[in-house]
Amino acid sequence: MVGVSFGGSAEEISLKEVGLRYEVDGEIATITLDRPDKRNAQTFATWSALADIGDGLPQQVRVVVIRGEGPSFSAGIDLRMFTPEGVPGQGSFASSAALGEATFADRVTQAQRGFLWLRRPDIVSVAAVQGHAIGAGFQLALACDLRVLADDAKLCMKEPALGLVPDLTGTKPLVDLVGLSRAIEICLTARVVGAQEAARIGLAELVVAPEELDEAVRDLSAALLATNRDAATATKRLLQGASGRTLTEQAAAEGREQAARIKALFGEGGGRAPA
Ligand code: CAA
Repeated sequence: MVGVSFGGSAEEISLKEVGLRYEVDGEIATITLDRPDKRNAQTFATWSALADIGDGLPQQVRVVVIRGEGPSFSAGIDLRMFTPEGVPGQGSFASSAALGEATFADRVTQAQRGFLWLRRPDIVSVAAVQGHAIGAGFQLALACDLRVLADDAKLCMKEPALGLVPDLTGTKPLVDLVGLSRAIEICLTARVVGAQEAARIGLAELVVAPEELDEAVRDLSAALLATNRDAATATKRLLQGASGRTLTEQAAAEGREQAARIKALFGEGGGRAPA
């Protein structure tokens, strides 16, 4: 069961009801969007459940894989959220319009919690994307550190075409990955970016045949797990901070992280070889 709260009211619902599966196998956690008949459309409950999973992630987990069941990774927000009736028990954007600015901002912050933990330095998150990744689906893929795409993947930031903005944490990683001009072009045309183009412009680390997607993600996970955990965490932290620092500041940060690593590996007095 996961605790899911919607604008003040809270209830307990199962991951199955939310449309998610969650499995932990040693150091790898796999989250599967599991509503293939609705192309893994996402609701407030999806985002609350993702946040809960992040909060309760077992300490041993180092790789988090997000995948989608069926032909599409995710068709984005559940379009019922744009109807006056909304999703049963979860309200709708139409009713959100009546909320005060602070209350609405709070709801967005709650939703974004489901995405932001995927950047924690102590894990590497990998999105395995086949078929459509639209709107919130594209943003969920962008929330991950790495993206492995099936060659049928179609990415689309559809929000502006619906009169909305992407607000599920996707804009910064998109700009970081493809640059401002390309991000403007992709978002403001709401066009589809195919897998090969995605790889070319930095949106994917790897493109494989659809039937090879799971194996490619397994291989990547194994390679990620082959490095020392604490060194991986410290290196990710360094890389994440690089764009906000000058070269001199980054060099100093490298030195600080390395001093901590050396101390951890050899102790104050030195002695043993790195694991
Ligand atoms: N919400 C709810 N249901 C959805 C859905 C969505 N986003 N996307 C698909 N479905 C449902 C369809 O209604 C259909 O249900 P029924 O079988 O009960 O009729 C079922 O999933 C299968 O859909 P299709 O027959 O359309 O499947 P397809 O494979 O031919 O097409 C698709 C897939 C291209 C993703 C198409 O379904 C589609 O365009 N979906 C809508 C995409 C969309 O506009 N998403 C919103 C983006 S904006 C956002 O996410 C963030 C935001 O606004 C803040």
